[in-house]
Amino acid sequence: MEVITEHVQLPQQRFAVCWETIKVAPGVRERLLSQAVLTFTVRRKLSFEVAPIHGLIVLFGPPGTGKTTLARGLANEIAKALIPPGATLVAVDPHAIASVAPGQTQKEITRLFQQTLPELAAAGPVIVLLDEVDTLVVDRHRLSLETNPIDIHRATDAALVGLDRLCQAHPNVLLLATTNFPQALDRALLSRADLIEEIGLPDSQARTQIIAEMLQHLARHWPALERLKEEINFFAAASEGVDGRRLRKAFIAAIASSLETARDPTQLQATHVVAALQTLRRDMQSEYEEQRRREAFLNHDLHPRSA
Ligand SMILES: Nc1ncnc2c1ncn2[C@@H]1O[C@H](COP(=O)(O)OP(=O)(O)O)[C@@H](O)[C@H]1O
Ligand SMILES: [Mg+2]
Repeated sequence: MEVITEHVQLPQQRFAVCWETIKVAPGVRERLLSQAVLTFTVRRKLSFEVAPIHGLIVLFGPPGTGKTTLARGLANEIAKALIPPGATLVAVDPHAIASVAPGQTQKEITRLFQQTLPELAAAGPVIVLLDEVDTLVVDRHRLSLETNPIDIHRATDAALVGLDRLCQAHPNVLLLATTNFPQALDRALLSRADLIEEIGLPDSQARTQIIAEMLQHLARHWPALERLKEEINFFAAASEGVDGRRLRKAFIAAIASSLETARDPTQLQATHVVAALQTLRRDMQSEYEEQRRREAFLNHDLHPRSA
């Protein structure tokens, strides 16, 4: 498995779409972009002792809320905002690092932070996407003795040391990390973040925007579906608690719910959509209960004496 899965020059049109697609609460986009740009402007001028900017932004929230997509879009917006414009985006796969041969993880991390990234940074601004970073920087305090292989400890230490050295020696590197499980992240990493932004489940306004955009796309190909736009508020109310990814998928599931609609999507009715949303919410409820059971079991297993 390759540790660096992507290495591209930004800005690029296909990344611009990512920024527009994800509907987030007002203020989130601007906060992210200003913090990110400051990382490159202010940080170049002031020493780390004066302005301890680590160049680390963390996005956290449930799966399917658009973190990865937003981070990619953000990278593109940063590249557009810099003077002169342009940045290199490097996507690192923490799973690939974590799955190298036992004992090698620490070496891989050290090589990444102390060789690969500094080499790239010598040529100009670099944005590193660390998607699902919890795989890499596991909270050492939470690991029990059994689940505490020395390799994980060393990997986390190597990542923190690597980050500290990198951010002091290379002010033109910004790390964008995402995680579905901030509670699994090592606190030392979180304390280094310049901004920790929660990307939660889409609220009613965001869901309305997602649904409107979804219908817009469908109606472009099947103009008869324009009529479903009257039901947007109704669909938004019926999809409370649903993440953006599954909300989009619910429309596809509604079209797939019969051969008739699959062959001719103009046959899609509001009832199909509502039924798909209801099924989805039922599935999510069972998933949630299953997860609660698993967590209770694990807690009991790890701390058998605690109540
Ligand atoms: N808030 C949102 N607004 C619009 N679309 C969303 C949103 N959240 C998720 N999506 C859809 O789900 C897809 C997958 O999101 P992704 O970035 O992989 O989520 P995450 O990384 O949080 O699991 C996106 O490409 C988008 O189509
Ligand atoms: Mg993701």
